Amino acid sequence: MRAGAVIVAAGSGERLGAGGPKALVRVAGLPLVTWSVRALEEALEVEAIVIACPPGMERETAAAVGTHAQVHAIVPGSTSRQRSVARGLAALPGDLDAILVHDAARPLITPHVVSRLVARLAAEEAVIAAAPVPDTLKRADGQLHVEHTVDRTGLWGAQTPQAFRAPTLLGIFGDAGPEELDSATDCAGMAERRGVRVLLMDPGIPNPKVTTQADLRLVEALLGAGRIA
Ligand code: C5P
Repeated sequence: MRAGAVIVAAGSGERLGAGGPKALVRVAGLPLVTWSVRALEEALEVEAIVIACPPGMERETAAAVGTHAQVHAIVPGSTSRQRSVARGLAALPGDLDAILVHDAARPLITPHVVSRLVARLAAEEAVIAAAPVPDTLKRADGQLHVEHTVDRTGLWGAQTPQAFRAPTLLGIFGDAGPEELDSATDCAGMAERRGVRVLLMDPGIPNPKVTTQADLRLVEALLGAGRIA
């Protein structure tokens, strides 16, 4: 299967407080986004990668990421994650069988996981990295007192990459209006709303999202120790 990938990297990184875009923060010697570029380009199926970067920072992003044969375009992202995805999709080549959408904020992803996701598309329209929720879940009131415990049976945390047959994902975005692009938090949610069956695939590796400084220290330690295949 010939696959393309959109890496969304246009978040402001406000919660990280690094004084600049999160995707360009250096982690274990590389800009955060570069770890995802490397994993995706090393997966044999991925032919083209588009990075949606903070608007106006195309040149800085290109300089930070460096030269990679598979990086097809670096485009300005937008005001919401899904709007950034849309911009990335518009810049991919038109003749792909599969498209992966991945957060630059998840640098621990591996080529093996990317290939496993694409392989599942032979029998599925959509498959996403996800993990069963390990913690006991509490519903809180406004004062942070527990209202009740939520049954976690069957609950999974959605991650990225999220992989789709190309016509399916392009059709979904062709159909999406401004409200949905502002409110949806992942592509799988937009697929589910249209009746597309989405398969969950446990990547079997730690795949945390960098949001805070503590997350950054965690992934720094894991990346420094070498990727888990
Ligand atoms: O903010 P959050 O960590 O949930 O964002 C998930 C991913 O979406 C990040 O990689 C971020 O850079 C990206 N994003 C984007 N455009 C936005 C907001 C987030 O590309 N407007």
